[in-house]
Amino acid sequence: MKKRVSASAPGKLMLFGEHAVIYGDPCIVTTVDQRIRAEVERNGEDVFHLEAPDLGLEVYKKSIEDLGSEEMPKEVRFIERLYKNFLDKYPQDKGIIVETKSEFSSSFGFGSSSAVTVGFAKALVELYGLEFSKGELFDLCYGAVLDVQGVGSGFDLAAAIWGGTLYYVSPAKVVEKLEVGKLPLVVGYTGVKADTPTLVRMVRRLKEERQEMVEGVFGGIAEVVEEAGEVIEKGDWERAGGLMDKNQELLRKLQVSSVELEDLIEASEKAGALGAKLSGAGGGDCMIAVVEEKKRGEVEKEMDKVGGRALEVEAGVEGVRVEEAK
Ligand code: MEV
Repeated sequence: MKKRVSASAPGKLMLFGEHAVIYGDPCIVTTVDQRIRAEVERNGEDVFHLEAPDLGLEVYKKSIEDLGSEEMPKEVRFIERLYKNFLDKYPQDKGIIVETKSEFSSSFGFGSSSAVTVGFAKALVELYGLEFSKGELFDLCYGAVLDVQGVGSGFDLAAAIWGGTLYYVSPAKVVEKLEVGKLPLVVGYTGVKADTPTLVRMVRRLKEERQEMVEGVFGGIAEVVEEAGEVIEKGDWERAGGLMDKNQELLRKLQVSSVELEDLIEASEKAGALGAKLSGAGGGDCMIAVVEEKKRGEVEKEMDKVGGRALEVEAGVEGVRVEEAK
């Protein structure tokens, strides 16, 4: 019987297809080398005990009976709900202590909540000696996210589980690994934290008001995604950049871009990026640009000048993995 297990999962970056993916269209997502680690230990008490200082929560305790019942702090909602759903299906004698540790700020929009959810789920399943396929792990995580948030395509969970660069159709109906080498990306953080559910609701409202226009945009995005999959597998970064521009043009029509994102996109392109777009829900968080190695320094400098922050990330890294089991 295992007493303590830790697992880590990576953050993600949406390359192509945000928003449309919620309505059944494909997207392309990649992982980033910023991981969150979750350690789960049996505690011999009927208590769920969580320490997540990097997520803004020092110590949080709840009796097993009360799981999911009262108000849950934002930082732990997914974990607590997932744990409750897990116990409903696989009842256990006693509770657990969970500790999380993050290598990145939850502000960047790299998907800290999806990474922590997946890392926690993996550690939990291992602790109790269960054998879950990737699909089963996804279902456990996605169920908790939907229970708490009501919206989301699950692309971030899939990235954290499967790793690498994926062609994805929600909810994990299609998960295809793309064969890509090193992605020549520069990631720029706007300094503005965006709230994904709010932006998703905004797009939903726009779709209700202007259905034809929004469906046309989604169709355009789906075409971009299909082409992008082939182009990045070929390593044709010039065309990939052009497709990013096209995707960004379509996202503007959904009104999810922002002044800060546009400033960074413009600065990167002036400095020689092959193309750029927002990455994620929009409204803030990060943008990405396709940049040849020789232009990287210049692009980062120009983004800095307009108030952005270039983040050093490696893309396409391994998905969730067990770090330690005792
Ligand atoms: C957010 O990073 C991407 C969205 O498509 C939401 C989702 O897919 O869950 C806007």
